[in-house]
Amino acid sequence: MPYSLSQIRIFEAVAQYESYTRAAEKLFMTQPAVSMQIKQLEEYSGLALFERQGKKMCLTPIGKEVQQYASRVLQAHNDMLGAMKELKGVKGGHLIVSVATTANYFVTQLLAEFSRQHEGINITLDVTNRHTLLDQLENHEPDMVIMGEPPKGHGLQSERLMANPLVVIAAPNHPLVSIDRPLLLSDVLAERFIVREKGSGTRSAIERHLHKHSASCKNTLEMRSNETIKHAVEAGLGLGIVSMHTIQPELDSGRLVVLNVGNFPIQRHWHIVMRKGKRLSPIAREFKRFVMAEAPRFVKSAVGK
Ligand code: PGA
Repeated sequence: MPYSLSQIRIFEAVAQYESYTRAAEKLFMTQPAVSMQIKQLEEYSGLALFERQGKKMCLTPIGKEVQQYASRVLQAHNDMLGAMKELKGVKGGHLIVSVATTANYFVTQLLAEFSRQHEGINITLDVTNRHTLLDQLENHEPDMVIMGEPPKGHGLQSERLMANPLVVIAAPNHPLVSIDRPLLLSDVLAERFIVREKGSGTRSAIERHLHKHSASCKNTLEMRSNETIKHAVEAGLGLGIVSMHTIQPELDSGRLVVLNVGNFPIQRHWHIVMRKGKRLSPIAREFKRFVMAEAPRFVKSAVGK
């Protein structure tokens, strides 16, 4: 190839500064190296590109013509670098995140803020239960998952994000609400509980917790989402055990209350989980950093205290 990109850059700099010395300074080169590159360019092309006028190296009329093409080449090169950056996902890019149904209450707000800060990115968000999240991780589908405690092994790596307390909720007119002492586990377990479907992380955490205290709920009604559980509890169908991060609007408006029960809340934690050895794209790395730094603030404002 007769002309290299760096020769074109040197040509452009000499044309701009009208001096080998200044061009050399700008390009961190020596003055003789700059003048040699210009000489080679003139020899290859068979054209006189510069002429000395006193102390200045000025473009010849032919040099001026050539300069127009040189700036287009350099502009196209810069554009190409920008496009490559975008393709790498620093700007733009595609983020694929899956979250536990229960985490969606704060993750949606996090995503909204993140996409405001990173215009032009595409986001795929899947909201599903723990069982499906683990299947997705197995199949390498999402960049990362936000969920409760991940299982040990399974080729996963995880980082603890923040606390996720599970509390017992009741309608404000439930008879247990008026009892003026901390409730025992046995007081609440005599009631009907509205529980999540099998495969839900919340449900298995509750089952493990009760098992640890040699207890169980006898009377249960199964529902597939936190929203339906909250409505059912509000309507007086029974009690529920849900993440504190899902109920702030109902607590604020007085539609639900948290019962003070011994051995509660169940102390769980949110985690960012991905396949071991997963190489995150730049935008996914940035999102993970953002979530680690900002999630507690978002939850705090969602939970209010
Ligand atoms: P889930 O989420 O109950 O909506 O499955 C909690 C978890 O992942 O543990």
